[in-house]
Amino acid sequence: MPLVVIVGCQWGDEGKGKVIDFLAHDADLVARYQGGNNAGHTVIVDGRRCVLHLIPSGILHPNLKCLIGGGVVVDPQALVEEVQALEASGVEVRPRLFVSETAHLIMPYHRKLDHMMEARRGANKIGTTGRGIGCAYADKVARQGIRALDLRDKDRFVNKVKTFSPYYQHLFQSYGEDPWRVDEVVDEVWRYRDDIAPLIVDGPTMINGMLRGGAKVLAEGAQGILLDLDFGTYPFVTSSNPSPGGVCTGLGISPREVTRVVGVVKAYSTRVGAGPFVTELDEPIGPKLREWGAEFGATTGRPRRCGWFDCVALRRSLQIGGITHLALMKLDVLDRLDEIKVCTHYIIGGKRVDMLPFGLENIDEAEPIYETFPGWESTLGAARSFEELPEAARRYVLALEEFVGARMDFISVGPDRKETIFRSKELFVV
Ligand code: GDP
Ligand code: IMO
Ligand code: MG
Repeated sequence: MPLVVIVGCQWGDEGKGKVIDFLAHDADLVARYQGGNNAGHTVIVDGRRCVLHLIPSGILHPNLKCLIGGGVVVDPQALVEEVQALEASGVEVRPRLFVSETAHLIMPYHRKLDHMMEARRGANKIGTTGRGIGCAYADKVARQGIRALDLRDKDRFVNKVKTFSPYYQHLFQSYGEDPWRVDEVVDEVWRYRDDIAPLIVDGPTMINGMLRGGAKVLAEGAQGILLDLDFGTYPFVTSSNPSPGGVCTGLGISPREVTRVVGVVKAYSTRVGAGPFVTELDEPIGPKLREWGAEFGATTGRPRRCGWFDCVALRRSLQIGGITHLALMKLDVLDRLDEIKVCTHYIIGGKRVDMLPFGLENIDEAEPIYETFPGWESTLGAARSFEELPEAARRYVLALEEFVGARMDFISVGPDRKETIFRSKELFVV
């Protein structure tokens, strides 16, 4: 019974949307296991661009079901607006989308607190997406969260908001912010209740039942392993576990169910928000990569920081992720470069470092060591097999494989579905 995990292996925005769209073709269920509407997964279908934030990207395939797992934090307004936008564009959503009853809700005060905390951090800000993600997860851990199942009963919902109100009033006051009224918060959320209530299910019963029945399931990761709360570049991370460890707790399945883990990497590196980025590039190449790769956040529109491929960082993701197959994305973005660098290791304190160390906050401590490759200076978009790639591009891919010890089975040379090279087709049949 196959359960395939798709996980970002850098700092998010690797191109997971395209890979999920590809594999969803053959799936019965696509399930998000963590994160929230901080994600932005872009899928291009027949030249039309669609960005999914909270709903699994698989929804664009008409014959499958989608589940927002209990490990996801759900902003009721964002969910309903995304459902409506998809339906307005002709996608049938409601009979196919389900929300696990244990998913925690992002409340209006979480969004506000996210902005307040960022403002207070000043120069040390994380550069969050401002969606209240970390604050909702913090309440979950503090056992003062409100879950999707609380939307079934208004008294229960109102009582919870009332119970947690004194804590928040106190907190808001300490930030010099106006207090909020319980009834206003209740109204703001409850107005979406009738749209959400019919979607709420016992997630583990649904997914395990489908697995027992022989269904093919894709677990759609958001963000990337280097943004993982436990294994990423803490504290410049998101507040969930994008790494495959999050699949079991986020969906309520056993690790024994996972049959394959597809890691998604870009042919260079990007990062949105603050945090260490050893291979980051300034003028002139950084802004060029941003322009050629259209590297602007799919959620916040912020320009993404760009840099060379970092094998040191990827080795950590491969270690944590147990990746069985890699998808290499956006190779075409490097088309115009006359030379391309790859960071093979760092020098820190005079010592060679091959694996991204934890706690690297001051990147001046880490010197990236590069190997330089000739560019191909031609357009890759039309290549449909590895052999059709120019020799310099093949050399680049083979070198990356050797540096990190993993095979790139899926190579993407453009945003469209057809701009893809499979090196081992059978491996991608779910
Ligand atoms: P995700 O968050 O990992 O799903 O990635 P995003 O959707 O945020 O960002 C990836 C962007 O790159 C999207 O705009 C995709 O359409 C685009 N994209 C995906 N694969 C390729 C590729 O091979 N080449 C180019 N040029 N663009 C790609
Ligand atoms: P997808 O799924 C890239 C980053 C934010 C910030 C940090 C914490 O499209 O790859 P948060 O709002 O989660 O508390 O912000 O995480 N971040 C992402 N960066 N892609 C994403 O999602 C991201 N989701 C969050 O920029 O640095
Ligand atoms: Mg994205």
